[in-house]
Amino acid sequence: MDLLLLEKTLLGLLAAILGAIFISKLRGKRFKLPPGPIPVPIFGNWLQVGDDLNHRNLTDLAKKFGEIFLLRMGQRNLVVVSSPDLAKDVLHTQGVEFGSRTRNVVFDIFTGKGQDMVFTVYGEHWRKMRRIMTVPFFTNKVVQQYRFGWEAEAAAVVEDVKKNPASATEGTVLRRRLQLMMYNNMFRIMFDRRFESEDDPLFLKLKALNGERSRLAQSFEYNYGDFIPILRPFLRGYLKLCKEVKDKRLQLFKDYFVDERKKLGSTKSLDNNQIKCAIDHILEAKDKGEINEDNVLYIVENINVAAIETTLWSIEWGIAELVNHPEIQAKLRHELDTKLGPGVQVTEPDIQNLPYLQAVIKETLRLRMAIPLLVPHMNLHDAKLGERLGCGSYKGLGVFMFWIGFGLKIIPQS
Ligand code: HEM
Repeated sequence: MDLLLLEKTLLGLLAAILGAIFISKLRGKRFKLPPGPIPVPIFGNWLQVGDDLNHRNLTDLAKKFGEIFLLRMGQRNLVVVSSPDLAKDVLHTQGVEFGSRTRNVVFDIFTGKGQDMVFTVYGEHWRKMRRIMTVPFFTNKVVQQYRFGWEAEAAAVVEDVKKNPASATEGTVLRRRLQLMMYNNMFRIMFDRRFESEDDPLFLKLKALNGERSRLAQSFEYNYGDFIPILRPFLRGYLKLCKEVKDKRLQLFKDYFVDERKKLGSTKSLDNNQIKCAIDHILEAKDKGEINEDNVLYIVENINVAAIETTLWSIEWGIAELVNHPEIQAKLRHELDTKLGPGVQVTEPDIQNLPYLQAVIKETLRLRMAIPLLVPHMNLHDAKLGERLGCGSYKGLGVFMFWIGFGLKIIPQS
């Protein structure tokens, strides 16, 4: 059995080498691709650049090849752009052309092949999902509606830290408590629900499954099967595990949150005077036939991934930077004490009167961006990018964006 597989693999490798040479000859004529390291057959640049495409490694490559360059990771083509102009072109000027997302075998599983909002190609489903998610999540009205809940969650963190005398002497791992706060902030918006404590069994189950999903999706372990499709049979065990985690997670969202909310909706009617939470809006879209039951669960999946850890990491970095820069911390305290009074909690409307706090937050997001390469974009059809740099037209490329030294330093040094 193993010998047969080896024989097939070798034959496949040979066919792929010939195919790659043929395609690269053909492509070289049709498309003027961005510069980049010289690829070798089958592996492309994978062996040169390695598995870890983090922004620091890509910065080194950009210094060598310029603000737009191409990496061939096995069969995958990735364009890396790293200037404000090119980022604006991809995200804004040609936002529609580059509005699709790439997926890989693992993301195919976690998103049901793009039944979610984020990992879909541009088209009717893409537009519909974004339209349906705007009102329940991405408006100022949502911020105003939920700010009291968020402020209560933040106050509860301070109280809990104060209650624990060891925090003052031995220190405390703030992340765990902030994680509970962020889950509560998001689950209030989504389901009008919160978890009582870090030991809440449902919270523990949810956190474990979300953590496992992130670990599996973000691992380098499956790169070989993603970059070189004929090696995919060796990923069978990995993909089976992904599928199990996905099934368990969606089942948990359904049984403990979506169905619970449906039951509540059927016993006490959610009239106009009662605040609708996000899932009510989404279920309404489902009842109108705009989306199906699976789409509802994949929206919950997307929010669990996109909203909680990103915000948690950013808060944690903000605190770490303030601890490591006592002079900035002192200035911030001075602003809060003079504008609000000592010990008074910051509330949402205060923020517009606290320019130094705003600067600290923006600077934290700039310096410690939670997703420095953003989420990859992709064009479905030939598109032009970086023409002024002599690059031409290409198709079906994953585009990663990042900035080298972009942005002004917001916090004054003096
Ligand atoms: C500090 C916190 C956050 C950071 C740093 C962050 C960062 C990002 C980044 C870099 C992207 C990809 C943009 C792109 O490639 O076009 C993104 C997309 C997204 N984020 Fe956030 N995010 C944060 C908080 C949130 C929150 C709180 C939510 C939900 C309430 C959210 C929901 C989403 C969604 C749904 C997308 C996909 C948008 C699309 O595909 O059109 N994010 N986020």
